[in-house]
Amino acid sequence: MLQDQDILDNISTGIVALDSELRVVALNAAGQVLLETSESRCLGTHAAQLLLDSDSWVAGLQQVLGSNSPLSRRGESLMLLSGQEIHVDLMVTPVNGSNCGIALLVELQAVDRLLKISREEGLIHAQETTRAVIRGLAHEIKNPLGGVRGAAQLLARELPDEGLQEYTRVIIREADRLRDLVDKLLGPNLQPDIRPLNIHEVLEHVRNLIVAESGNKTRISRDYDPSLPEFPADRAQLIQAVLNIVRNALQVAGSPEQCHITLRTRSERHLTIGSKSHRLGCRVDIIDNGPGVPEDMLHAIFAPMVTGRADGTGLGLSIAQAIVSRHGGLLECESAPGRTQFTIHLPMECKHAQTS
Ligand SMILES: Nc1ncnc2c1ncn2[C@@H]1O[C@H](COP(=O)(O)OP(=O)(O)O)[C@@H](O)[C@H]1O
Ligand SMILES: [Mg+2]
Repeated sequence: MLQDQDILDNISTGIVALDSELRVVALNAAGQVLLETSESRCLGTHAAQLLLDSDSWVAGLQQVLGSNSPLSRRGESLMLLSGQEIHVDLMVTPVNGSNCGIALLVELQAVDRLLKISREEGLIHAQETTRAVIRGLAHEIKNPLGGVRGAAQLLARELPDEGLQEYTRVIIREADRLRDLVDKLLGPNLQPDIRPLNIHEVLEHVRNLIVAESGNKTRISRDYDPSLPEFPADRAQLIQAVLNIVRNALQVAGSPEQCHITLRTRSERHLTIGSKSHRLGCRVDIIDNGPGVPEDMLHAIFAPMVTGRADGTGLGLSIAQAIVSRHGGLLECESAPGRTQFTIHLPMECKHAQTS
């Protein structure tokens, strides 16, 4: 065991330290996640036993030992003991004169992880673009709308015939409806009220609301990680975001009795959102057993006014998304018939909440 384990565990690259017999001396937290094993299980075991098909992996390690010069391979495919294949950029460095018996340091950087970041960046950019378009459009609509409404009011006063005022009333009512719609599209514009928040209290609040809304018929299971600390966030806004997501699950279900929702929380180490890295994050999964998001809609559900329901506004998820992103977080969805999962990732040190 290294004394510097703390440092190792805070590195997002997987690190395996091996002795001159290729036995594992240390494996950091990221390495354990990547290789789907624990340090205690593999300390002292031969590097070959970390993987299923390990010939090329062991050959590479032996080559570095023999030549005493580093080796780097990009996009190397590794077969995990579970049978799953992962792709990594691999760097093996010889260590000379180590006082803890380390002869080789192996760095593993998952290539999949990089793909995920760029996908998330794409998502974030798309959402920022949508919000910018809405802001621009809202401005263009609201200004002339105020003029139309004011003119209709003036006109109403001048009209000689009471009966004709029905028309000006329609103009005013529809102008108001349009203004309200635009306001909703813009999302909550209150400054976030950031205070220490217990995420489970938020989830319990939503759970109670939805259970009541379903006439006590919907089953909502909890799978909470009780070790999650409080973190700064806006309680009312997060309730709104989670409520919008959970309510959708209830609405798309065949009936409240068939609907089964799971609320799950986990802590996340090294949460990366866009190009920002956070040491500690909180993850909330909202899982339902409903029919799933129609495939042709999945790419667009976070956009405003995209709805699959006859009486839907298509605003619920776009508001949830705006709130989560205001907290520096990310909202994702994966869906298949019978299992739809919305995941909220939130950094736990939320310093940069801003209205946008
Ligand atoms: N859990 C879910 N399962 C299946 N479809 C969903 C789910 N959540 C959202 N959707 C789809 O996404 C659409 C957009 O949701 P939302 O933005 O809340 O607007 P609205 O509820 O007004 O339609 C929904 O109409 C529905 O078609
Ligand atoms: Mg909705």
